Amino acid sequence: MHQSKSPIAIVSDLSKSFDGKKVLNQVTFTVAPGHIVALIGANGAGKTSIMKALLGLIEIDNGSIQINSEKMTMHSHQSLRNVGAMIEYPSIYPFLTGRQQLLLFASGPKRLEQVQTIIEALGMTAYIDRAAKSYSLGMKQKLGIAQAMVNQPKLVILDEPMNGLDPQAIKLLRDFIDQQAQSGTSFLISSHILSELGKLADEFLILDKGNIIRTGTLKAITSNQVCSYQVETSDDLCAYKLLVAQQIPVIDTDPLTFEVSSPDVLTGAVLSIVKANLKLIEITRHEPDLEQIFLKTITTEEIRG
Ligand SMILES: Nc1ncnc2c1ncn2[C@@H]1O[C@H](COP(=O)(O)OP(=O)(O)OP(=O)(O)O)[C@@H](O)[C@H]1O
Ligand SMILES: [Mg+2]
Repeated sequence: MHQSKSPIAIVSDLSKSFDGKKVLNQVTFTVAPGHIVALIGANGAGKTSIMKALLGLIEIDNGSIQINSEKMTMHSHQSLRNVGAMIEYPSIYPFLTGRQQLLLFASGPKRLEQVQTIIEALGMTAYIDRAAKSYSLGMKQKLGIAQAMVNQPKLVILDEPMNGLDPQAIKLLRDFIDQQAQSGTSFLISSHILSELGKLADEFLILDKGNIIRTGTLKAITSNQVCSYQVETSDDLCAYKLLVAQQIPVIDTDPLTFEVSSPDVLTGAVLSIVKANLKLIEITRHEPDLEQIFLKTITTEEIRG
């Protein structure tokens, strides 16, 4: 993580409606230099719309966007020279090779080197000199990511970059993004693969129906969460009844899983199982992960209306 003073992107009070329906509501956040910021939200939450607004691809109804201290509007795109992006799908020219496309996008005196570096970093050497029409989904996806990053922009915006990538490619991409962030590049990334985002991002923005409902580091988001324990006993039905009798929240019956908000709760649960002469075969602690927190946060919002 790279520490510095002024944010590379400042998004303030962003609102947007499509056909009278609000899809972004007073969205406010910043992206610090060298930080990886994750946008999390269900389908239709507004992730792509935020990214499009940042890139001047949609007109916003209200709010302001600054990139590298320059104001961004639909009619003033100057600030975008510091930005690289891949939104929704990689744009591919089928009859050009991957290398030719990267050269088309690359600028500056070191463009050949930049292209070669990104090809190697993303593991594209084996197919980069073939016409892109013969690429698989994951190969196209990598080419799109390479295009976004080839000019070493200060801010990289990636919408669902892990789509279609195999586990090895995901790991390669994660390491590359991490390494670029260490040297000061900032990232705004959306993904539904929360386990991957959890490993990668410094900050999380949880979006629900166009509203940012939670922000923070993974540590901050998980710190006040209740963890759960999974138990296997010689008689799980009996164990279940014992837990319920003590009003311990059981969140799953197969395998038997209950929430533990304090050591007293855990002690009480184990004692009652032992006292009832059940055999304790296994007990496992589960830390709350990003996916559980996300689902819980969204559900709570839904209940609240
Ligand atoms: N051009 C458009 N015209 C009308 N409605 C739109 C348009 N683009 C997006 N929307 C609506 O805006 C809302 C947010 O869409 P957006 O694409 O930003 O969601 P998302 O979070 O990226 O979802 P996903 O996870 O499915 O990619 C949705 O209700 C969508 O139907
Ligand atoms: Mg989207």
